[in-house]
Amino acid sequence: MKRLAIILIMLCAVVWATGAEAHGPKLKNKETASLASNRGPFELITHTGETVTDRDYLGKYMLVYFGYTNCPDVCPIDLQIVSEAVDMLGKDGARVQPLFVTVDPERDTVKVMADYVKHFHPRLIGLTGSKEQIASAANIYRMQSRKYFPADSEKKSDYLVEHSAAMVLIGPDGGGLSLFPHGITANDVVTDIKRFINPR
Ligand code: NI
Repeated sequence: MKRLAIILIMLCAVVWATGAEAHGPKLKNKETASLASNRGPFELITHTGETVTDRDYLGKYMLVYFGYTNCPDVCPIDLQIVSEAVDMLGKDGARVQPLFVTVDPERDTVKVMADYVKHFHPRLIGLTGSKEQIASAANIYRMQSRKYFPADSEKKSDYLVEHSAAMVLIGPDGGGLSLFPHGITANDVVTDIKRFINPR
């Protein structure tokens, strides 16, 4: 088990170091022209078991993060940043809906998502769905993921998922506005969101 823990930490360090660059979209932050085409439709299931589509979030800003609950530490760190950013936005935070979409629907059931999201922001919505629903949503935002088995995994359920680590900001019309890579601070996220919410 100890060896597994070490391997997990090493793998995480790889994801950490490479962030969205190696595993994710070739998009850079503020490439708004191409990001704007990243829009629904998607249909997913919330951590309270409701079916939602992209249309349910029209009129709001969405801060979307794709990851999985068994992620050793990249996802928790990024979801913490998402949560801090929403809080730091103060009143404007109410206009931003934080969403956590699993890239591991096999293990991340509605119940698992419900248990997980409560560790973060009270307004964070966890989204899961069928394999196809998740693949289709990930495709919209060009988020990639790949399941793999560490050398000493003992069971079929002992796998990790390498995934794009980036937050996507979606505007009220459903089009992408910004892509925040792993490693960004909550402060930078807030500054960027504010320039859309309160344009000068
Ligand atoms: Ni992760």
